[in-house]
Amino acid sequence: MNGNLLLKNANIFTPLGSSARRGEEMGLLQKYENASILIKDGVILQIGNHSVCPESSLKDICVIDAGGRAVLPGFVDSHTHLIFGGYRPDEFGWRLKGESYMSIMERGGGIQSTVNATHLSSIDELVSKAQWFIDRMSEMGVTTVEAKSGYGLNTSDEIKMLDAIAELSAVPGQKLNIISTFLGAHAVPCEYKGRTAEYVDLIIKEMLPKVASKARFFDIFTEKNVFEIDDSRRLLTAAREAGMQLKLHADEIVSLGGAELAAEVGAVSADHLLHVSEQGIERMAEKGVVATLLPLTAFALREPYAPARKFIESGAAVALATDLNPGSCFSGSIPLTIALACIYMKMSIEETITALTLNGAAALGMADEIGSLEPGKRADIIILEFPEISMLPYYVGMNCVRTTIHDGIIVNDKI
Ligand code: NIG
Ligand code: FE
Repeated sequence: MNGNLLLKNANIFTPLGSSARRGEEMGLLQKYENASILIKDGVILQIGNHSVCPESSLKDICVIDAGGRAVLPGFVDSHTHLIFGGYRPDEFGWRLKGESYMSIMERGGGIQSTVNATHLSSIDELVSKAQWFIDRMSEMGVTTVEAKSGYGLNTSDEIKMLDAIAELSAVPGQKLNIISTFLGAHAVPCEYKGRTAEYVDLIIKEMLPKVASKARFFDIFTEKNVFEIDDSRRLLTAAREAGMQLKLHADEIVSLGGAELAAEVGAVSADHLLHVSEQGIERMAEKGVVATLLPLTAFALREPYAPARKFIESGAAVALATDLNPGSCFSGSIPLTIALACIYMKMSIEETITALTLNGAAALGMADEIGSLEPGKRADIIILEFPEISMLPYYVGMNCVRTTIHDGIIVNDKI
């Protein structure tokens, strides 16, 4: 296949634009009934009424009939920890019995336990394990995924993780785009316990110069007893000076002012935000920081959901992502993310689609390239099983995606 495609007889739903949709704009989707999308070399050439896309206009074209089903932009999962060694089912069991995520981390489990397992994994092992998750994501309609390092926590193992991400990206015929994030500031490793400032120095002086060209984003776990506000500011400022774009895990467990810091340093997104302050919401809305909300994590940790409606009503841009990781949220389920967003966070299905497509793209600085179905954008497209988007949250936690198209090539098809 060559990325030339004509998709016919489609019920198309898409946000429009090349930047994040904010506030009430999030609920506005363009709809085309019985329409076609013409794709050349993996890029959308034309979209609209059937007659504007004659089959004869391209040579070597693959023609598919959507049969009147709903057609959407591919989903963008803009926050995952896709690369990791081992699993942590014991920890999940302890949490079910009432132990908290942070108390497990403070006694040397949690992230540190995945760090130990990741140190023992080769790049090949990390890559083949992650590919299994990528194949599942693609079945659920994901066409772009962000992947973080952060289970190395020393220079060589952080680089090993970023190299694994690069190798995955370069797999011939890879089913999705992979965007890399350096998360060396995910935890203070056990050998630096009580010496946070020294680990911060190591990241700034030794890691940043080596990883800045290997990752698009710098991310940090800004949290009480992990990297608090002053250390986070130092790290984020240094990363920005090294040319990286910024993300934060902010206000996930306690309200620490992570959202305010994200606005202050000009982060592209602040993520989690379960305990964000009113002021944090306002600052993010003012500065255009995308609020990336991760309802699967709140669900798995039995925490309250992030205040999606407050963000939207304040004029902020909300993105949704899975946070797939082996600890706080061992799930990459897009269907369950959609259900939780609509049922518990009170987002409409139109807002939810915008959050998982164009706003997810904006959270990765890619809204001019992907995230909506418009001429000039990459042809990352999904066909649902049903004609209407209302089926997405209604079929709770179930996969409604029938076909996934990445760069104009069918990468998954259930027919
Ligand atoms: O986004 N809280 C920090 N990082 C991840 C969890 C990582 C882990 O537990 O392995 C999160 O929730
Ligand atoms: Fe995370």
